[in-house]
Amino acid sequence: MSWDGLYASAFEKVRERIGKVGKVLLAYNTNIDAVHYLKSGDLEERIRRTGIDEVLKYSEELPENIKSVPQLLGSILWSVKRGKAAELFVESCPVRFYMKRWGWNELRMGGQVGIMANLLGGVYGVPVIAHVPQLSRLQAGLFKNGPIYVPKLVDGEVKLVHPREFGGEEESCLHHIYEFPRGFRVLDFEAPRENRFIGAADDYNTTLFIRDEFREYFDEIASNAELAVVSGLQALTAENYAEPFEMIRANLEVLNERNVPVHLEFAFTPDETVRKAILDLLPKFWSVGLNEVELASIMEVMGERKLAEKLLADDPVDPVAVTEAMFKLAEKTGVKRIHFHTYGYYLALTEYRGEFVRDAILFAALAAAAKAKLGDVPSINEVVEAMDVPVNKKVESVEETLVREYGMNEGMAEVNGYQLAFIPTKIVEKPKSTVGIGDTISSSAFVGEFAIRP
Ligand code: AMP
Ligand code: GLC
Repeated sequence: MSWDGLYASAFEKVRERIGKVGKVLLAYNTNIDAVHYLKSGDLEERIRRTGIDEVLKYSEELPENIKSVPQLLGSILWSVKRGKAAELFVESCPVRFYMKRWGWNELRMGGQVGIMANLLGGVYGVPVIAHVPQLSRLQAGLFKNGPIYVPKLVDGEVKLVHPREFGGEEESCLHHIYEFPRGFRVLDFEAPRENRFIGAADDYNTTLFIRDEFREYFDEIASNAELAVVSGLQALTAENYAEPFEMIRANLEVLNERNVPVHLEFAFTPDETVRKAILDLLPKFWSVGLNEVELASIMEVMGERKLAEKLLADDPVDPVAVTEAMFKLAEKTGVKRIHFHTYGYYLALTEYRGEFVRDAILFAALAAAAKAKLGDVPSINEVVEAMDVPVNKKVESVEETLVREYGMNEGMAEVNGYQLAFIPTKIVEKPKSTVGIGDTISSSAFVGEFAIRP
């Protein structure tokens, strides 16, 4: 069958059954994304007013976090120059105020949990229980209608309510997302591809604050979850990770005891100590989702430097290096499923076999194309419409390599006792924005897979 044929049939299978998946628990990071589409003239004027030399310093090397306006503008330039995503904590109140006054084009749901809750609950109709560290009115208003719940303590009892019924007057955790298209020019720089820089004006998600409801009543909250997704560990540091990790470990033990498959949505974690700690925690997960930069960063802490370099050397990313890295990770940690995504293709390495693994990642690629095109997935109709986006031709060589190396057929192969599934994705030429596509891919694939398992 052609890839278009496989896409169409996978979509039908998942659409028919995804509404039947039971409760999915989502923890821990939810925030508000203030999305700002950068304008070259405006950015340049701000840089000049702030002092070019001071700003340029930070475009060479990112600061650890943002304490001044030159650091903010320089970090944006760092991303533009390389076409790479970066995210830093904004510590300073005056800089937070500067960003607020600079403004934004739209407010959107943010954080892996928030984005997945709206997609799974609001679009696919899968019931979700979400951890929302701070529920301000603004945050609550960004949740879609649908079976989305947060725990609320009422007279010492946990009730599950829609976030808008929570009645929280808590803080707003604002992440300023500075998006730029491919070819965006400022000073002498030109962005080689579209991407974003994120300034997180947020004291809760950045330290993985866990609410009392989740600390004290986790057993009850998780009691009828069928699946779980964990995310939000990325901003922790060697100084502050120990306490939240203890809580996460305890939560995972509860889920493991109940045989709830848990997916870890890995995100780029700059701190090496934290990355190592995540690697140690991986045996408690069923599944993990990551991109090439994230996989390379794990290979580094596993002492596989050469392999890490190979993962970042080519475009499209060398699929044999990816497969080798996935094997190493699966063997070291025992995770049953690794879902790798990169610009142009996805791979899934699983301990188990079946076309449903490939079909679920096909479905995820449609959802990703819809998200890239519109910035949001308003309903399942937009996912169907993404069928018109052409399949990426640039990765034909990737498929040829997989056929040659592993005897891949229609995206399926058996390698070293594991199943390797491959798909070329649909690439939207001029995406509206880039933030949150990875979360859309991983949650659609993980939950989609459970929907269509035989
Ligand atoms: P992440 O880097 O985890 O946020 O995930 C980004 C992923 O989104 C990439 O690995 C691609 O698979 C996908 N992606 C990025 N840009 C596009 C696009 N224009 N069209 C479709 N998918 C995209
Ligand atoms: C990170 C960011 C958040 C964004 C999300 C998208 O969690 O902090 O602002 O919405 O990534 O994947």
